[in-house]
Formats: sequence, C-alpha cells, structure tokens
Amino acid sequence: MIDDFVEQHRFLGNAVPRIIVEHVAGLASRRVTPEATPAELEKLFDEPLPEKGIPLEEILARFRDDVAPNAMGVPNPRYFGQFNPTPLPIGVWADALSSLLNQNAGAWRNGPSSAMIEARVIRWLCDLLNYGRKSFGTLASGGSEANLLALKCARDSVTADIINRGVRKAPGDLVIYASDQCHYSIDKSADLLGLGREGVRKIPTDDRFHISLEMLREAIARDRDAHRVPCCVVGVAGTTSSGAIDPLEELADIARENGCWYHVDAAYGGPLAFSPQHRDKLRGIERADSITFDPHKWMFVPFSCGATLVRDGGQVLRKSFDMTPEYLNDDRGGADVEFDFFRYGQMGTRRFNSLKLWMAVKFMGREGYARTVERQIELTKYLAKQLDALGNFKRLGEVETAVCCFQFLPTPDLDGPNLDLLQQRLQQTIERSGEAWLTTTVLKGRRALRVNINSFLTEQHHIDDLVKLLARFANDIK
Ligand SMILES: Cc1ncc(COP(=O)(O)O)c(C=O)c1O
Repeated sequence: MIDDFVEQHRFLGNAVPRIIVEHVAGLASRRVTPEATPAELEKLFDEPLPEKGIPLEEILARFRDDVAPNAMGVPNPRYFGQFNPTPLPIGVWADALSSLLNQNAGAWRNGPSSAMIEARVIRWLCDLLNYGRKSFGTLASGGSEANLLALKCARDSVTADIINRGVRKAPGDLVIYASDQCHYSIDKSADLLGLGREGVRKIPTDDRFHISLEMLREAIARDRDAHRVPCCVVGVAGTTSSGAIDPLEELADIARENGCWYHVDAAYGGPLAFSPQHRDKLRGIERADSITFDPHKWMFVPFSCGATLVRDGGQVLRKSFDMTPEYLNDDRGGADVEFDFFRYGQMGTRRFNSLKLWMAVKFMGREGYARTVERQIELTKYLAKQLDALGNFKRLGEVETAVCCFQFLPTPDLDGPNLDLLQQRLQQTIERSGEAWLTTTVLKGRRALRVNINSFLTEQHHIDDLVKLLARFANDIK
C-alpha cells in the first residue's frame, strides 16, 4: 500500500513541476482571456460520474489540454483585472506542501506547527501596521469573511447579550456606516449578523471617492435622534472600484467621539505599509478596533488567504466566537488553547494557509514587498500620464494605489447611457482580443474603465501596449 502511495508521489513529483514550468514559461505570449463560451466548456467537461479510476497520466493530460487553456490568465502580466495577483512561485509550491501535511489548522492538537506559524504571520501583519503588542487575529478565507468576523465583533461590543439572545436584545436598531465605495461584503455581513442590509448607511464620497466626513457626522446624528444605535464606522484603505483611501485618522476620531467600533477594510491597501514612501497613506489605521487585510491581493499569496486583526487581543475574538465542544475541550493541561484558531473565528476545519504566507514573507521580506508596491504604483502613474496624453480619455479620481479609473470620451459632452455603452464596448473589445484584460465599474453613477496593476511581472512595455490597444480599439468603436 505505502509503496504505491510513494510511487504516486514520485510520478506526480516529476510530472506536475513540468506542467507548471511549461505553463509559466508560456505565460507572457498566451491570450489573457480564453475564447471558449460557457456552452462549449459545459460540453467539454460533461461526463458521468466515473465508475473506475483512470491513470494519473490521463488526469494530468486533461488538466494540460482542457483545464489550463480555458482558465482566465490571472498570472499574466497583461491581466489588469480585479485584485487578483500573479501568485509567487513559493506560494504555489507552499500550497502543495500544506496539502501534503494536511493539518487541520483549527486546533493546536491537530496542527501544532501550523498553529504556531499562523500566530507568527498574524504577529508579522500586526507589526507591519504598528498595531501594538496586544493585537492579535486570525486568518480567514478572504476579505469578505474577514469583514464578517470583524463586524461580528463590532456588533457584539454593543452588549454581551447579543451573542446568546440575538439582535432583538440590542438597545435599538444597530447601524454600520461606510462609504458608498465600500465592498459588498459589508452589506452581506450586515444581513448575516441580523442587522439587515438597511442597517448599513452608505455615506457619499467626494471627487476622489473618499468618504464625506461631514455627511457621516450628520448621518450618525440623524440615527441617534431616531433612537437607533450607531454601532460601527468602517473606513476603506483601497476601495474596490478606484483604490481610494478614506481619511483613516479622522474616521478614528469620529468613531471614538460616538462610541462606535472602528473597522478598517484594508483588504487591498494594507501592503502600502511595507513602503516607507506610501506608509503614511494608512495613518490612523493603528487606531482601528479591527482591520481586514488580504494577503491574497497585494502580497501575491495564492488564493485563498485573508486576515482579521483586532487591536485589543485574542479575547475580543474569543468573546464573539469561542465555544468548547466536548471533543475539543480546553482541559488539556497546557497553554495550547491559546493557539486553537477555531476559537477566533467561524471556521472549524481549516487549511494550513499560514504556510504560504509565512514562506512568501520570508522570500520577499519587507524590502521586496516595498519595492514591488512602489514599482506598481509608479507604473499606474505612468499609465495615467499616457492616458492624459491621448486627449480623449478622462481620468476619474487619483492614483493612490495601483488602480487607475478612466472613461473614453470621444466628445467632451458625451454622458448618460451612451457613455456607459461605449466604455462597455471598449472593455469587451479588449477582452475578446485576448491581448489584455481590464474591467469596468460604476463611479458617480456612470460606467468607467478600471485598470489594476496587480502582477509583479507587469513592466512598462506592457503598459505601453495597453495604451496602444485602448487608443486603437477606441478609434475602431467610436
Ligand atoms: C476593499 C475590499 N474588501 C473586501 C474584499 C473582499 O475580498 P475577498 O474577495 O477576498 O472576499 C474586496 C475584494 O475585492 C475588497 O476590494
């Protein structure tokens, strides 16, 4: 039995690296977007439940011939889409090593080294943000779950009764405040936590997509007058649409003045803290009660890897999440309970996800991340300059991170649905060409094109090519 097990690993250990190396060697010359339609792919993978197993060679051949060529080219240097990075090679292979050990990272007894490594990477993220010695946290599946965990702590901070007796025991309707640019996981969390999506006040933003502090103050006052309970102020460090960073220090003041929990969603922008040049953009983040930070965005760790950090230590998370099931009781005669990560969040069984983050940070170091973040912001500014030079593209907001938003305006007075349609057509034309991928979003009610430079493989000539592509297709479709 064991011989066959070892032999399978030997075979895969030779064959899989060959596939991986071939794949990455061809990355730059491959289409970014696959051409197949949903119907074609459905047909390609349409087969009944296998009765008998098939040889490993055949399974890998299916991956090589059918799966990989029809995957979105996320690691491609010409992928300018959502906050989805080219994964660091060490992260890709760390995932295999993590699966090899298959630790159940939920409890110390089930994964001693994984628990210690998770505690260590959490410490590193807290130190990076100057979050104070008491701070602690937990890894999560991504920013959405990290926001949910943080907002549960915010909800539970209102009164201890809520955990057992639900929101009907709250002293009034609880309200969360966030800008109209916040990620949709804030709305989903409010629903899951029993506050309802209407429990989120979306505060308007200015021309740079920063939350309006004045309107936030007014909204809180209005809710108080109506006997509602202002519960949590959310600041965003790197908004999903435009990468904007809210005034985090001022939001901390408003939260404190109003006795609210303060949460900062730094899922994307957190790694600015690596750079001495850009760190100041996050000033005030260290005053947050909780922070969302997604290593699977700007730290190039493969999916999935998010984190919730809390300023006042693990007890804050334990108050909201700890349970002691009989088979995981804490009567084990050691200090290990502190490292039972199931006590700090919603997940029970969980992957040894800290391994890829631990290895990635060791490989890149603070300096490696700083250099990469700085280079990507420089490239984004370069793109903005090239677009300005074209004359018929209007940029929206500022380049604060590595996101640039803009609209194609063949005539200066173009507005309304026709403007929207044109942006969509330009995005679709580029998508169909396979030469690059960018997305659209809606800013101030109108469609805009959005570029995020998220691959550490992207160089200036890729930006030049993208600008040429935009100019060429814009000319074709106008
Ligand atoms: C600001 C922000 N917060 C949270 C999230 C959610 O992260 P995830 O997709 O990892 O759940 C995103 C995703 O893009 C985001 O941009």
